[in-house]
Amino acid sequence: MDIEGLRQLIAEDMNTVDQLIQQQLHSEVELINHLGHYIVDGGGKRLRPALLLLTARAFGYTGTHQFDLAAIIEFIHTATLLHDDVVDDSTMRRGRQTANLLWGNEASVLVGDFLYSRAFQMMVGVRNMRVMEILSDATNTIAEGEVLQLLNRHDPKTTEARYLEVIRNKTAKLFAAAGQLGALIARRPLQDEEAMASYGMHVGTAFQLIDDVLDYSALPANFGKDIGDDLAEGKPTLPLLYTLWHGTAEQVAIIREAIEHGGLHNIHQITDAIESTGAIAYTASLARREANSAVRCLTNVPASPYKDALYALAEFAVDRRN
Ligand code: IPE
Ligand code: IPE
Ligand code: MG
Ligand code: MG
Repeated sequence: MDIEGLRQLIAEDMNTVDQLIQQQLHSEVELINHLGHYIVDGGGKRLRPALLLLTARAFGYTGTHQFDLAAIIEFIHTATLLHDDVVDDSTMRRGRQTANLLWGNEASVLVGDFLYSRAFQMMVGVRNMRVMEILSDATNTIAEGEVLQLLNRHDPKTTEARYLEVIRNKTAKLFAAAGQLGALIARRPLQDEEAMASYGMHVGTAFQLIDDVLDYSALPANFGKDIGDDLAEGKPTLPLLYTLWHGTAEQVAIIREAIEHGGLHNIHQITDAIESTGAIAYTASLARREANSAVRCLTNVPASPYKDALYALAEFAVDRRN
């Protein structure tokens, strides 16, 4: 199965989730509706809700909490994107101009807060303390990840371990929560919850590693985001760090300057260096390793098309263009 097969398999479930998202976006405040619909209707791959739905289905769940939780996870994700684009000063998201570009930073931050708090209102509606625990922990960890990343910014001494800690926190943790919640609502034993949390952690880590590769190498039309955003703000992601560790003296000088001061003036030399030192291949190989580890977490999941789709999701995290 590939990502298209995955989408078809859960099309009906995702439809229900989308309806719920539309319904829950509603506010009496017009700007919230407007900006909220703008970002949500921009699409997005809906990978985190997909992971949750697939896990619940793979364990035979047939109730309705999966829809609420999938919508909640997508709301949290969308809130982080609104905030992230302000922090990163990004101008393109999901193939469109960012909300911060169109409505300004203030509106983006505040509507992001609306989405976060709406997610928490919906969470309370599930009336399950474990659900609250998992999602509040995940949200807190994402915030820590973003702050840690802020501390690494402009710091060429950032290590691989510190970089990995950032991406596990800011990105992988929400994938982990999605997997764990799928197992939890299906009333699986703790061991299966933990296995699915690990699956999500590995898939999410692979996903962000590849995102950081694509930030240097994607076609903007596929990626839906501007290329070079990480470089522009002096964000030491692994492709850049690896080049710093393995480049020629001249390359090292350029990269160090780029991390310390940001800016896109040397982007062509830098993308060439990232390619020629093998930084892209190295980062992709770490992503591949994460995807392989993810798949090994699925041993206890009974065979089914949903399990096949979980394999496909791990593959997509590594082998994607958007
Ligand atoms: C973007 O996530 C933020 C990262 C963790 C890289 P996605 O690429 O899943 O965003 P959408 O929802 O599909 O736009
Ligand atoms: C993703 O980080 C944002 C969060 C997970 C909170 P990035 O800044 O790397 O993602 P993009 O490239 O803007 O989507
Ligand atoms: Mg960003
Ligand atoms: Mg990025």
